[in-house]
Amino acid sequence: MGRIAYVDGRYSPHQDAAVHVEDRGFQFSDGVYEVAVCIDGTLVDLNSHLDRLERSLSELEITPPTTRKVLEMLMKQLLARNGVRDGLVYIQVTRGTAPRDHAFPANVKPTLVMTTKRVDHLHQKNILEGVKIVTTPDLRWARCDIKSVSLLPNCIAKTEARRAGAGEAWMVDSDGCVTEGTSSNAWIVTHNDKLLTRATTDNILRGVTRGTLMDLAKEMSLTFEERPFTVEEAKSAREAFSSSATSFVTPVVQIDNTVLGNGAPGLFTERLQGRYFKYCVNKESEL
Ligand SMILES: Cc1ncc(COP(=O)(O)O)c(C=O)c1O
Repeated sequence: MGRIAYVDGRYSPHQDAAVHVEDRGFQFSDGVYEVAVCIDGTLVDLNSHLDRLERSLSELEITPPTTRKVLEMLMKQLLARNGVRDGLVYIQVTRGTAPRDHAFPANVKPTLVMTTKRVDHLHQKNILEGVKIVTTPDLRWARCDIKSVSLLPNCIAKTEARRAGAGEAWMVDSDGCVTEGTSSNAWIVTHNDKLLTRATTDNILRGVTRGTLMDLAKEMSLTFEERPFTVEEAKSAREAFSSSATSFVTPVVQIDNTVLGNGAPGLFTERLQGRYFKYCVNKESEL
């Protein structure tokens, strides 16, 4: 973690940073968050992350804590204060502090918290070598399009993955179709070279990385389709991968007990991963 955290207008040492016990984020998970990655001093897809943050806030009628311009400046300032050129910035906005009562309080000031972390993104073992994933029932609520801090089902599923020696869990709906990962979007590559990922209208998070990968896939003339796929389809797919801001394009080499292909990252996945790395590193995503 970066040494300095930002809490409601103050920079404090990370170990001292705190919010009130009646903050509604703490009491009710009444808040939203974003995670943006910084590579060589540039925030990747910053505008898309800020767009999604604004949408999450608006869907929950939480007052934006600052203007977009100020928020952007604060993010960059915190990264600079912590000396992070390669890493991530975490932003959390809660509805604010109010006497405990389920209904949204009126006229409450939102709480803004930000932290940073240094990460050597492009040399992470999982990203380079791929991961095993497990499948597990999706226990979440019906508004997964909102990036809410209410992540308990995701935590349960990720713990299951860890205990099974897997890097991620893919959650599965009542029709046996994969919704998404606990903190990533899920993709497969079919035997006729088509990329498949679930449509974002189907109650999953509109991943920023997912959106960029679709643009890059179009540019690379790769065919893709947005539709749900079953666990069985995933297990018999040519390749599979997960995408997120922090995990980039992470190859999936095993699903439950089924090894995909020869158990190594697939060529299709590696091509898309390579193109995405280039997109990030070449600052195509700079403002
Ligand atoms: C549930 C879920 N799906 C998908 C994603 C990927 O989104 P992004 O590409 O914007 O990081 C995340 C990221 O945290 C997530 O939590």
